[in-house]
Amino acid sequence: MAPSLAGREVLLGVSGGVAAYKAASLARGLKKLGADVQVILTGGATRFVQPAQFEALTGRRCYTDTFSDVERIVHVEVARRADVAIFAPATTNLIAKFAAGIADDLVTSTFTCLTVPTVIAPAMHTEMWLHPATQAAVRLLAERGATIVGPGEGELAGGDVGPGRLEDEDVLLEAVLRAAGRADHPLSGRRVVVTAGGTRERLDPVRFLSNRSTGKMGYAIAEAAAAVGATVDLVAAPTALADPPGVTTTHVESALDMHAAVMALAPAADVIVKAAAVSDFRPVAVSDQKLKKDAWTGSGAEGDGVTLELARNPDILADLGRRDDIDAVLVGFAAETTDVESYGRGKLESKGADLIVVNDVSQSDAGFGVDTNRVVILGRDGFRRAVDLASKRAVADVILDLAAERLRG
Ligand code: C5P
Repeated sequence: MAPSLAGREVLLGVSGGVAAYKAASLARGLKKLGADVQVILTGGATRFVQPAQFEALTGRRCYTDTFSDVERIVHVEVARRADVAIFAPATTNLIAKFAAGIADDLVTSTFTCLTVPTVIAPAMHTEMWLHPATQAAVRLLAERGATIVGPGEGELAGGDVGPGRLEDEDVLLEAVLRAAGRADHPLSGRRVVVTAGGTRERLDPVRFLSNRSTGKMGYAIAEAAAAVGATVDLVAAPTALADPPGVTTTHVESALDMHAAVMALAPAADVIVKAAAVSDFRPVAVSDQKLKKDAWTGSGAEGDGVTLELARNPDILADLGRRDDIDAVLVGFAAETTDVESYGRGKLESKGADLIVVNDVSQSDAGFGVDTNRVVILGRDGFRRAVDLASKRAVADVILDLAAERLRG
């Protein structure tokens, strides 16, 4: 059966960002899923979009002002009627007011009356998103139970590019569907450990061996797990990404650091997703001082042909697979460029994983650095599910649903 919001009342709050125009399409998408949709706008939003547009789309009056129907106490009425709420786009200003409990207009007053699952979709310029005040507000709202979706990365108003885009409509709809059924998700209240990023293996204080992983897939998994109500620990090798709200993030550098952090968390975990690209080898000798050129002498006539001696790192996933005291569903990743599925199937066995997510990293729209992915998920007993090109967040949702089906205990 297709997912549905039939019989559910969805409150859609819109604030004054350029992306406000996308809220009209979102309202339509919610209606198509069968929801009764109540739209409220901030004063800023009315500078970009008109109530009449939402009234035509939803068949409901669209409210903009606390003082227009004072006798009805609109903010209390619409908050009580809602089964789930979404604020999209949520501007820096709106998020700051939500976090501070300010109620100086209809949308903020309504927020303070809400007791139902709430999705907040930030959209703003990158600088505003990254400002410590915004990050702190978002974290606080997530800790209080809101689901923060996005922002996505891409082209912003004025031609800039970076994080700050309103997340895609399909992701927002999925988040509302999940929020509406949040208490029912099998991972709600469970412990999920996620690893992300590419480990760094030091040669000296300025040089290291690493890989192209940006951490985006792992971060998307951590966010998706938090969104369904799991308690999430993210073990992150260096990335350029901000810590996801509502998630406990431990920063590590090398494979050995990651091994120690994961092993400490693993016994209490219900699901462990190893999305990190872990260096298989590390330099045998690590210098305290920056190595000079003449510290390297090779076998060649010019002193070139330098050989770097490497030691093998522990395979964290395989170690987890071997340990008897770990009951968690184990999900590994396999980044391959050839014969992707046969290598993936081999890893299920060799690492003792329950699921292996295989991606072909030779494609430009999947794998390293991009926001989309195309994967095949393989399981024990011949299970196979292909996920065609989708946002990393949508892929994360599928991975977590499959892991949830395999929960033990
Ligand atoms: O063997 P390969 O590196 O392709 O396996 C990838 C999977 O194994 C990923 O899930 C990765 O996080 C995990 N891995 C690990 N420890 C390593 C190497 C890989 O946990 N040393």
